[in-house]
Amino acid sequence: MRQQNGQVAEITLRIPTHIAIIMDGNGRWAKARGLPRLAGHRAGTENLRRVIEACADLGVRILTIYAFSTENWRRPPEEVYGLFGLLEQMIDRELDNLDRNGVQIRHLGSLEGVPERLQRKIRMAIERTKGNSRLILCVAFNYGGRQEIVEAVRRIIADGVPPEAVNEELISRYLYTAGLPDPDLIIRTSGEMRLSNFLLWQAAYAEFYVTPVYWPDFDREELLKAIEAYSRRERRFGQISEQLAPPG
Ligand code: FPP
Repeated sequence: MRQQNGQVAEITLRIPTHIAIIMDGNGRWAKARGLPRLAGHRAGTENLRRVIEACADLGVRILTIYAFSTENWRRPPEEVYGLFGLLEQMIDRELDNLDRNGVQIRHLGSLEGVPERLQRKIRMAIERTKGNSRLILCVAFNYGGRQEIVEAVRRIIADGVPPEAVNEELISRYLYTAGLPDPDLIIRTSGEMRLSNFLLWQAAYAEFYVTPVYWPDFDREELLKAIEAYSRRERRFGQISEQLAPPG
């Protein structure tokens, strides 16, 4: 039950199967507090732990997070390697807990250019959690949506797939997200209204939710607001309302 314009509105939450998040605003969160950018990323990493827990509690089956894009290499090296360090620390500190709570970790992206030690940790985390099924956590790390499509096309050609066999289903099978349903809801924190090369193919019919809240402050209550907004949307997938809800 939610308070709206002085009225109480009853809404049934529809929990999305797959939520994807562009975790933006760590830098601005830090700046607003006179802290270095990396302190914002550290707070963002802490928050990530809480949001993973909230998603698992709510029954979300897949959570995809945009942790590092192929374009993020353009940031100052201390920030790039600071982020790598945070990811490494997160694996060191959180893996046991994630594993115990049934979280399966997957990686979307390329490990090329990533320091060897971090590559090994990422592979180990994936291997160790591959039997878990409560929540699939896809970490888009060194990820770019266009790059993902380019790589898929290359592999399709290398596999000698004939042109007439190329269809949407086949392309989906060559993406990093092979076997997973597309995101139902994409959340972007900190107010920017763009996809920034995130899940370009998979986002085709996703509902988009943008909040001005910076990522480190995006708590369970904010997640519930996003899910509530999603619950009010009508997903038509190209059809008209009457086709979706025939009179009963
Ligand atoms: C965007 O904020 C955030 C990132 C580029 C990184 C997101 C990473 C985390 C939340 C930590 C978890 C991930 C790892 C790799 C440990 P921004 O820096 O663009 O913020 P700004 O737009 O306010 O500057």
